[in-house]
Amino acid sequence: MQSLSRWPSLAIGALHLRHPILQGGMGVGISMAGLASAVAREGGAGTIATAGIGFGERDLASNFLEANRRSLRRTIREARSRGDGVLGVNIMAALTNFDDLARTAIEEGIDFIASGAGLPLNLPALRPTGTRTALIPIVSSARAAAILTRRWRERFDCLPDALVVEGPLAGGHLGFRPEDLANPALSLDRLLADVRAHLEPLEQRYGQRVPVIAAGGIYTGGDIRRFLELGADGVQMATRFVTTEECDASPAFKQAYLDAREEDGVIIRSPVGLPGRALRNAFTEAVGRGQRVPFRCAYHCIRTCDVENSPYCIARVLLNAREGNFRRGFAFAGANAWRATEIVPVHALFETLAREYAESAESAPA
Ligand SMILES: Cc1cc2nc3c(=O)[nH]c(=O)nc-3n(C[C@H](O)[C@H](O)[C@H](O)COP(=O)(O)O)c2cc1C
Repeated sequence: MQSLSRWPSLAIGALHLRHPILQGGMGVGISMAGLASAVAREGGAGTIATAGIGFGERDLASNFLEANRRSLRRTIREARSRGDGVLGVNIMAALTNFDDLARTAIEEGIDFIASGAGLPLNLPALRPTGTRTALIPIVSSARAAAILTRRWRERFDCLPDALVVEGPLAGGHLGFRPEDLANPALSLDRLLADVRAHLEPLEQRYGQRVPVIAAGGIYTGGDIRRFLELGADGVQMATRFVTTEECDASPAFKQAYLDAREEDGVIIRSPVGLPGRALRNAFTEAVGRGQRVPFRCAYHCIRTCDVENSPYCIARVLLNAREGNFRRGFAFAGANAWRATEIVPVHALFETLAREYAESAESAPA
């Protein structure tokens, strides 16, 4: 029998994770080689975010595809050079260079591709036969899961290798209408049950288990236990990984998390047409009042971005925040960001989560 004091490991296709924890991809530049490789080394799944990954390349404006491709290759190789473990990339389905990034990551032998912010309906077409990269869509409703699995079955005769179910407490862009964010019928608990129920008959037909990974607001080892007990096979966590030494954001970005109070969590209307969960500051207030930050766009990076009418460039604003420039930026953050009290090494974070997990068994009612 599984010991209650230790969490189970997690298998996704041929990948074996010692800990059932995926680190969520965080663009722009928040989860790069540093954080992703540290998580992978610990036995979780490390994720490099590809949104805006070409930001440091000199020829980004004139050579958008190649600059992003080059930076992605370099980042994957850098992460690999820092140690072993399960390493993936997060590619938002709404990126205009989605296909190019997916092909490049697969060529580099990446272990998995996680993809949300839109449905990656054609992702299996980009994976050549015989390649083992696991494909992990991120969905925020059972309806989205149904649309995606139908398409993948009809076109490619396959199921996802795992599904991340992301609820309304997550950081970054959210797959919900703003008015639905507080609807209890759309809580992560409910979404998880709905998506599991949708998958069960498909799993039987294909004789394949599709692990379901819960995401959004999972912060402690106790939270991990709760979602595993609710039927998740694993969890995806992002916010808690920001306040680690290895996180690739500037110290000022991490400090914004340490300084945040609960009431600083806000929902912004992102120019890409989705709500986003962020930390309030003077900049979010100003753009919320309708202030515009004119910009020139050399490469339309997100399909759903209405460049002509966007009040600001979301990629630029997130990059500014990453560098610590909050006069012209804001930090995306999950609903639990305010709980951070210190910056710790990733190794210590895994130890804390494991201890919290064990303690939550002891404190649970018999
Ligand atoms: C700073 C930040 C940036 C994020 N960027 C992305 C991204 O580029 N692509 C994506 O699919 N999800 C993104 N997310 C969502 C996370 O990957 C993750 O699923 C979610 O935040 C989980 O909730 P948690 O932060 O409460 O743990 C981001 C989240 C944060 C906090």
